[in-house]
Amino acid sequence: PLKTVAKMLALASVFATSFNVFAAPVEIKFSHVVAENTPKGQMALKFKELVEQRLPGEYTVSVFPNSQLFGDNNELAALLLNDVQFVAPSLSKFERYTKRLQVFDLPFLFNDMDAVNRFQQGEAGQALLNSMSRKGIVGLGYLHNGMKQFSANTPLKQPSDAKGLKFRVMASDVLAAQFDAVGAIPVKKPFSEVFTLLQTRAIDGQENTWSNTYSQKFYEVQSHITESNHGVLDYMVVTSDAFWKGLPADKRKVIKEALDESIALGNKIAAEKDNEDKQLILDSKRSQLVTLTPDERQKWIDVMKPVWAKFEDQVGKDVIEAAVAANK
Ligand code: LMR
Repeated sequence: PLKTVAKMLALASVFATSFNVFAAPVEIKFSHVVAENTPKGQMALKFKELVEQRLPGEYTVSVFPNSQLFGDNNELAALLLNDVQFVAPSLSKFERYTKRLQVFDLPFLFNDMDAVNRFQQGEAGQALLNSMSRKGIVGLGYLHNGMKQFSANTPLKQPSDAKGLKFRVMASDVLAAQFDAVGAIPVKKPFSEVFTLLQTRAIDGQENTWSNTYSQKFYEVQSHITESNHGVLDYMVVTSDAFWKGLPADKRKVIKEALDESIALGNKIAAEKDNEDKQLILDSKRSQLVTLTPDERQKWIDVMKPVWAKFEDQVGKDVIEAAVAANK
């Protein structure tokens, strides 16, 4: 009987490994820095739902919002160490891995989100998804948030109003140069620190989308928001080459489809939140809206647009031209 038991156990283990029945599901970690009630937060949760629905018992997705697991300073390094398998940093945060994506930071380049979308989905934009392949980073798709607005504790109407003020920027030399251009002082800081820096007046202002300004409560600690629409804040959903290539081809296909569908939902939410969160901020009366006349806006363009030329070589003239052409 002992022999029979041993045989049965051996058979069971062969069965288990070949059909994966008793194996624990593979955990996919998705880390991000924003709140759950944001385009990226909702996209990540949808991705979890779809993967777990379509690959039950085989894969689980754990989502870590709010810089809980990794923040701006370490999420890409963690990805390359396989400590996390999916992250979706803003396009401004890949500077250490490629300079090409800095095209997205050039001030006053895109007229609106439709232009951003056309560029991303066109040939040049799609090629940029592979711009970090030599570093082991795979771009799986773009996700929208929206256009950025300036906020400060003083109304910013003219470019000279920003002079001498400290603005938080994401870790991008283009964004730093944009504030240098108006005589302001750019300070590179991770997203998780921005609220406290504003609240304690360690910095005077920042630039962000309506969604981030609302979900992080920046509007509670900033007296004015200038509706400048001067740049875009979008994301690239990335994984590591090692993780991606290590997936069985059929599973990879299911996971990619789940991601594409989640991104489509995230984009829809981004478009909605852009209006809704702006309205919620205005309704709160905690900060005042500053609107620019076409002449005033032109002044910001005139001082900030020369930044393009400084980065033309490293971004690529062809890439910039393709982006401009997307405005139609
Ligand atoms: C920021 O740092 O302001 C944004 O990139 C945060 C985010 O992920 O939307």
